[in-house]
Parts: sequence; C-alpha cells; structure tokens
Amino acid sequence: MSTIGQSETAMRSAGAGEATLKMAGEEVRIAGWVHRRRDLGGLVFLDVRDRSGLLQASAGPGWSSAAAMEAARGAGPEDVVAIRGVVTPRPEAARNPDMATGEVEVQVAELEVLNKARTPAIPVHLPPEEELPSEKLRLRHRVLDLRRRELQARLILRHRLVLAARNYFHKQGFVDVETPILTKPTPEGARDFLVPSRVHPGEFFALPQSPQIYKQLLMIAGFDRYMQIARCFRDEDMRADRQPEFTQIDVEASFIQPEDIYGWGEGLMTRLAEVAGVEAETPFMRLPYHDAMERFGSDRPDLRYDLEIVDDTAVLGALDSNILRGAVAKGGRIRGLHLAGGARLSRKQIGAIEQAAKAAGAPGLLWAKVQEDRATGPLGRFFRDDTLARLALSPGDLLLAAAGPDRVTSPALDAARAASIAALQLPSTTEHAWLWVTGFPVFEEGADGALAANHHPFVQPDPADAHLLDSQPLAVRGLAYDLVYNGTELGSGSIRVHDADLQTRLLGMLGLEPDEIAAKFGFLLEALRSGAPPHGGIALGVDRLAARLSGGSSLRDVIAFPKTTAARALFEGAPSPVAAAELAALGISVGGGE
Ligand code: AMO
Repeated sequence: MSTIGQSETAMRSAGAGEATLKMAGEEVRIAGWVHRRRDLGGLVFLDVRDRSGLLQASAGPGWSSAAAMEAARGAGPEDVVAIRGVVTPRPEAARNPDMATGEVEVQVAELEVLNKARTPAIPVHLPPEEELPSEKLRLRHRVLDLRRRELQARLILRHRLVLAARNYFHKQGFVDVETPILTKPTPEGARDFLVPSRVHPGEFFALPQSPQIYKQLLMIAGFDRYMQIARCFRDEDMRADRQPEFTQIDVEASFIQPEDIYGWGEGLMTRLAEVAGVEAETPFMRLPYHDAMERFGSDRPDLRYDLEIVDDTAVLGALDSNILRGAVAKGGRIRGLHLAGGARLSRKQIGAIEQAAKAAGAPGLLWAKVQEDRATGPLGRFFRDDTLARLALSPGDLLLAAAGPDRVTSPALDAARAASIAALQLPSTTEHAWLWVTGFPVFEEGADGALAANHHPFVQPDPADAHLLDSQPLAVRGLAYDLVYNGTELGSGSIRVHDADLQTRLLGMLGLEPDEIAAKFGFLLEALRSGAPPHGGIALGVDRLAARLSGGSSLRDVIAFPKTTAARALFEGAPSPVAAAELAALGISVGGGE
C-alpha cells in the first residue's frame, strides 16, 4: 500500500511497513495495532500494523525487559501498542517473502499497551482462505472493516485520483469554487433531500442534486473555467452504482464546443488511469447515441465484448408466426443476437438469459438453435428452408430475438447481451473500453406521453436539429455526451442553453407554466439576460471512477461510510427519529409518509 508522507511523529520514528534490511541495527519506535500474536512460550511474536504496513515484533528474554515480555504476552488483537526496539535481520529460514518487511523484525526492548481493545466484533486479520463476514455486519462495524488493508488501499487510491484531478484542472486554468449546499432545487431527475428553515417556518432548502445551475452562474459571472470536487445528494432508488450522497468532479467552461470537453476529459482520464495503473488509449471512441442504442441497446455499452444487436425484421417478420407478424404490424421491429457457439447452452441457461431480458421489461425472448443444418426451439420451428442462410446463421449458433417497439427491445437485448456474454464466457477484445456517447436526445417521453428532459433542462439542442423543436421534439439531439468505461457511465455533460428565450421555451415545452418558470428558474433567466457566454461542462462520478479504476464492484468499497441499499448508515445509525420539541421548533409535524 502506498503511504502518504512520512510516518515519523513525536510518538514513533517510523511506520511499521517502512522497516527494511537497510535499517538493521537501528533503534526504532513503532506504534500501531496488534494484528496477530503468536506465543511460543519463551518467545512472543506480535505482528504490528499501521497504515504503512505490517512488522513482526519479537519479545524474548535476551532483549526484552520483563515488563515488555509480560505486556507482549497480554496483548490481544487490535490493542494499540507502542514499541521501542532494534531492527534485526531475520534468520534465513524465518524470512517471509509475502510480507514487505519480511526480511526483518524488530526485537522489542520496551512495549507499552496504549489502549486495550475489546474482542473485535469482526476480524481484521483474516487468513486468505477465510471468507469476509457479511457486508451488513462489516458496515455495522465499519471502523474495524476500514482497518483492512484492501479498503484502506482503495480509499487512498481515491484520494490520489481526486488530487490528480484537482491538479490537472488547476494546470489547465480551472478555478475551484465552492457552491452552496443549502440551496434551491436543481432538477437532475431525482427527488430532493429537503432541509427545513427554522427562521422561515414552512420553507425549505434543498441539498444540491448537483451544482449545475451554480456552475452556469459562475460562467455568466465570468469565471471562464470552474471545477469543484462537489458533494451531491439525490433521494432516488438505490442501485449498486448509486448512493444517496456521492461526489462529482464537476467542471464548466465558457466559449467551448464539445471537442474541448472531449480533450479535457481524455487528458484527465489518461492521468487518472496512470495513477490507477490502468490503460486509457486516446482518442476515445465516439458513438452517437442512436447508434449505441441500435447496436447495443444501451447508452452505456460495454465495448470490451464484440457482440452487436442485429435487425432481423425483414427475415423474421415474414415468418408464419402471429407474435412476430403482430409486432411488425404495430410498427415494431424484431432484433436479435446471433451467438456463435450458443447452441451449446442448455434450455436452463437460455431460460436465465430470457429472465434477464424480462427483468429489463420484455415480455419474453424467442430463440432458435442451429443444430447441424436445422433450426430448433420456439423460434426455430417457424424457420423456412432459406431462413438460416438469409440470417447468415451457422451450425452451433444460437439466435435470441426480441420483437416489439425499440423502447422495449433495446433494454431487453442489452440485458440479454450481458447475460449471454456471461453464460458463454465470451472473451473480451480489450481490457479497458473507453467511449464517448454523443448526441443524446434533449427530450424523452415522460409519464402519460408528456415531454420530459432526457438529462436536465439546460442542454443546448444541436443547431442541426433546431428546426425539429416544434414538429418532432423527441428527435432533437442535444449537444450532450456521456463518458463510458467498460459499461459504466462515469460522467455526463453538455453544452448549455445560453439564450434566455430558448431556455424559457424549453422549460415551457417541459410543461412548466410561466409563473412556475419564474418561481423556479427566474434567477437563472435573469442571469442569462445579463450577458451569458456560450458555455458547457461535464461531471464525473468520483465514487464510480474510484470503484472501477480500483477494480472494485461496489461504490461502498470506495466510500468510508456508505449507505446500505436501504439508504441507511449502519455504523452511526442514520437516519434516526428527531425529538418532538426539535420538530416543533421547525414547525414540522410528522405524518405517515408515503
Ligand atoms: P449526472 O446526473 O449524469 O449529471 O451525474 C454525473 C455523474 O455523477 C455520477 N452519479 C452518481 N454517482 C453515484 N451515485 C449516484 N446516485 C449518482 N448520480 C450520478 C455518475 C454520473 O455520470 N449536472 C450534470 C452534469 C453536467 O451536465 O455537467 C449531472 O449531474 O458518474
């Protein structure tokens, strides 16, 4: 594990992990936790741990005081100790190549127990073959869990990534400006966490879902280039890659085009990948949103795998099947995955892929296996003599198909793609697939057919599509982009609307009445009317970046005190009820909730 700075303090001369053969004969003072104790009768070995690593300390009658011997014998796991002793080469047979300090030990002259620890509720020292306790238990005892080297290494990597990002933007002339945490709601598509105002009963601040509007205001104020390591808060349904509070590397700049953001984004990622020991070959691939949806069914495709969706409507729509014909008659398409070697999957395995597609909202998946030159399976039985040839399917192939409107089949085939890759253990063509997805639509279809913002309502429509704003708003592309790494959306941004009239028009298209626009966004419109430069930006998720670049799977691995999937903090016990008097002072009474 890397260390930050030096370990020397008034209470110790070196970090436990810093002892080397070169220091042989030196007297050192070490302080840390008892990781492990072995009592061999005459000799007591303690592995002492601090952030820098582990060091074996040996207490023996030839070199330890009687008090030190006794203290060593009495030391238990996680006790905090201070040791004075001499760095000594270990005998050849006792050297431990698995330990960074395995060539030496410290022969204890004095040992003081600075603080006893209760028997740890979860073990910090775990032999490699032993499984970790459940995550729930580890979160409940997070302080002990955080003593594990692996978690410390991840959090230290996170620190180094954020430091590198700050330095990178500083060098490019970006100014770090803090924006308010007590603020007005910012529409990013989630619910707000609200904070009651005691001095203005009945009124509320919102915690920022992002600094979006403030960073735009800073551009209008002339800051030219802004960055912030910004904490964001969103009361949304939890998923593995979401936390209710998370951190963004938030960036905005004036007088730019998307190209500028791609340049900074790639420069930053190259630097961060270097810090994490990962490859990032630039320029990153660019894929228009509509192509991503067509070819992969997803706006954040995992391009490590060479498997694309195929439009089979022309061939499959002509077969004698009511389901297929019906879907096409309703304006849908039949798209599928042609899986070479997929015929070896069992019905059960295909069933699992279908389940994944259903969980993503499809009524089902149809399949055909090609065995020798015959197609079998619920779809295969409709095949005609020329169907295999027309689909270019070969013996051993499996065809998975979904019929219906793209908004149903795209997510279903995205899920089926991921499940097929796993089931067939398809080899990846690269380890690190970086990608810009470009030209996201400005609008999407919201509840009951109304227009909703595809991202937030400040995205500049692509001038090439401006003529479609009234007639086909859903077809209007925005100057909006996402950064995707191995199937994870790491960041998202756009060029913004800098014209007050266009902004007002777009807000109106989203169903906001003029008085609502004035109440919610009047301050932004006023600023836009004061001389707003063209501007745009991006925000990158620090938690996702750190999790992916450290090889972790969950955001909880790179957050010191994360929330559970049930949005609770288990160590400190939050959220928690508030005393009636406190609520009364805020003018709040608590009902049943939703
Ligand atoms: P967006 O909402 O796409 O854009 O967020 C940008 C990035 O922030 C991360 N992220 C999250 N990480 C963890 N938990 C969450 N709940 C969560 N939500 C988002 C993701 C995501 O890509 N203001 C715009 C940015 C802009 O337009 O400049 C915004 O916030 O990595």
